[in-house]
Amino acid sequence: MADLKLTDVAKAYGDVQVLSNINLDIRSGEFIVFVGPSGCGKSTLLRMIAGLEQITGGELQIDGQVMNDIPPSQRGIAMVFQSYALYPHMTVRDNMAFALKIAGQSRDKIKAATDRAGKMLQLTPYLDRLPKALSGGQRQRVAIGRAIVRDPKVYLFDEPLSNLDAALRVATRIEIAQLKSSMPDRTMIYVTHDQTEAMTLADRIVVLAGGGIAQVGAPLELYGRPVNEFVAQFIGSPAMNLLPGKVKTTGEMTTVALDGGLEAQVAIPTRPGDEGMAVNLGVRPEDMRETEGTPVFEGKVDLTEALGEVTLLYFGTGKDVVPVTAKLPGVHGGLNGQVVRLTADPAALHLFHKGVSLLYRDGVDLPPYQPPTARPSGSAGGAHGAAAMPSDTDDRDDRIEEGLVKPQGPVR
Ligand SMILES: Nc1ncnc2c1ncn2[C@@H]1O[C@H](COP(=O)(O)OP(=O)(O)OP(=O)(O)O)[C@@H](O)[C@H]1O
Ligand SMILES: [Mg+2]
Repeated sequence: MADLKLTDVAKAYGDVQVLSNINLDIRSGEFIVFVGPSGCGKSTLLRMIAGLEQITGGELQIDGQVMNDIPPSQRGIAMVFQSYALYPHMTVRDNMAFALKIAGQSRDKIKAATDRAGKMLQLTPYLDRLPKALSGGQRQRVAIGRAIVRDPKVYLFDEPLSNLDAALRVATRIEIAQLKSSMPDRTMIYVTHDQTEAMTLADRIVVLAGGGIAQVGAPLELYGRPVNEFVAQFIGSPAMNLLPGKVKTTGEMTTVALDGGLEAQVAIPTRPGDEGMAVNLGVRPEDMRETEGTPVFEGKVDLTEALGEVTLLYFGTGKDVVPVTAKLPGVHGGLNGQVVRLTADPAALHLFHKGVSLLYRDGVDLPPYQPPTARPSGSAGGAHGAAAMPSDTDDRDDRIEEGLVKPQGPVR
């Protein structure tokens, strides 16, 4: 069992401030994934937790004990790196046993620990082999085995799968998920560039950007209710489209007049007085679908990519307009150079003002996110039907101010 608490944690190399104001509570047994652009400080934060980097500001606690000046070996932590760096002249068992031997543990204890790790990682048949006689995935499992034999309270992983080919990554990712479920009380913190790893492994994802935390939340919460344009475009692939426009009519449903003349109905409330406010409409490529009715976006397809299960349509590439990507299920041939009209469900759209989602305006606390159970199949007339919903915004705003009702985001 190990809770971690980071309070105003900061890191500077000389004058260069790499991280600041990192506040994070990690519960015992949680699987936390750090993501963010290259150079944002993911490895640095992990290494500060491990004790391999000095914390230059703030406090790190593990199980209530301040760890800032505790050496790595006494933190109850084990770290697995991208480069597994096994000793080439030692067998799998000896590689895994190395730390225990250095710590002077008995032969029996070492055998029991390496047997157990070998079994957990399905390495039992390979315990007497040298690393050169293993595949990349097996070598990375030995590196994880070196961590397991020490039975740490906290596992730290820094891009452990990035040296593996695509198929091995998937297999090893599933093994890590199974390993975690076999150790429910062990806390894991995992750095990755891989969206699928982040979305599938994490209980909560921490998005790091600009020297701080952009958003923390369950994977589908970040996908469904990103707090700002950065998170919106970072989580999900291809990235969310952002179409500039202005609020036209306000209420429980908002109408946005997009630059270029089209309009969109969005199931995000706006207030009287918001009319004319500059916004970016966020549309995920996978939420777009072709329509015969009123489109949210219309354009000539520059390029298509047929991936089998989906077809990607690219618009406005290399031109002086906002590029747009759509992801349509199935195979769509012959669309290159054609004008395509696309719409999206009002409940799937996002609205940002000055980069921040209107859902989070004024620091409103949202109720727990309920992901939709299935994507609406959606008819072309969906947007019009939804637009007819009654609006009681004026009244609701007053009640929020009086503290009579809890502000609520739309059910999305
Ligand atoms: N020893 C150092 N001295 C000065 N700057 C450093 C040092 N180590 C790292 N940095 C800087 O700190 C920042 C964060 O580096 P870090 O390695 O934590 O990034 P990262 O998010 O892990 O990136 P990547 O995804 O590429 O692994 C970078 O801008 C890097 O240049
Ligand atoms: Mg790194």
